[in-house]
Amino acid sequence: MASTILVTGGTGTLGGHVVPLLLGAGHHVRVLSRHGREDVGGVEYVAADLLRPEGLGIAVDGADVVLHLAGGPKGDDEATRNLVRASSDAGVRHLVYISVIGADRVPLGWFGTKLASEQAVRASGIPWSGLRAAQFYDLILLMAQKMAKLPVVPVPAGLCFQPVDSRDVADRLVELVLGEPSGQAPDLAGPKVYGMGDLIRMYLQARGTRRLLVPVPMPGKAGRAYRAGENLSLDGTAMLGERTWEDFLAERLG
Ligand SMILES: NC(=O)c1ccc[n+]([C@@H]2O[C@H](COP(=O)([O-])OP(=O)(O)OC[C@H]3O[C@@H](n4cnc5c(N)ncnc54)[C@H](OP(=O)(O)O)[C@@H]3O)[C@@H](O)[C@H]2O)c1
Repeated sequence: MASTILVTGGTGTLGGHVVPLLLGAGHHVRVLSRHGREDVGGVEYVAADLLRPEGLGIAVDGADVVLHLAGGPKGDDEATRNLVRASSDAGVRHLVYISVIGADRVPLGWFGTKLASEQAVRASGIPWSGLRAAQFYDLILLMAQKMAKLPVVPVPAGLCFQPVDSRDVADRLVELVLGEPSGQAPDLAGPKVYGMGDLIRMYLQARGTRRLLVPVPMPGKAGRAYRAGENLSLDGTAMLGERTWEDFLAERLG
């Protein structure tokens, strides 16, 4: 039976992959965005800001499932608490949430807000499913593009990532949305672990550019956590996406 699925963050990178999959599965998709838009391509848009709880009732009204993808550098915890409250009041029957691998282990503000968001979902009383994903290739690409603007590129020493294609994350989230609430899913990372320097070097090579890369120490607790691999999921329980960084670069940069 077709459900009404509210997607927060449906206008973002991940949401851009998820929404067509949900439509293709025959569901009614409503996207919450801070910017009003005309309904288009079978998608209903609702203008609301998750940091302003007074406007959320209309967005969640009649939604069977809420897929919460919205996020930003700050305030994800508050946004999630507001959404959880509105969803609970509206009788939503399944709340699906994306977080990040290492939310409970990397001592950086953004990771802390993702952890607090997870806690709000768990404590909501709404049946839920949660997924922690690794960094998306799109984000690594953005970082590499910025770093490559410098004549000499400082690369934090000893940092590794196991980034993942946001399309693989979208596929997994759609499985969770269309299934029964299942609690915390296994982490989802990409098929390979790369050093930060390797990611940048491969990007430069794909662009046919050269830069001098200089390893620099990443100080503080966060540096120690990254060097200890706390942002990774290496205990063998993670699911792995299919597409590699090499595949992604070949597609994006030819
Ligand atoms: N990128 C990564 O490497 C990564 C890794 C793990 C987990 N995640 C998580 O995955 C999710 C999606 O990431 P993404 O890279 O696709 O994000 P993105 O492209 O940066 O898009 C952010 C989305 O959040 C919405 N949003 C932000 N603040 C909002 C607010 N106050 N009220 C309503 N909507 C708001 C934006 O909608 P409008 O601008 O239309 O309002 C936009 O659709 C995020 O929760 C992120 O934390 C990302």
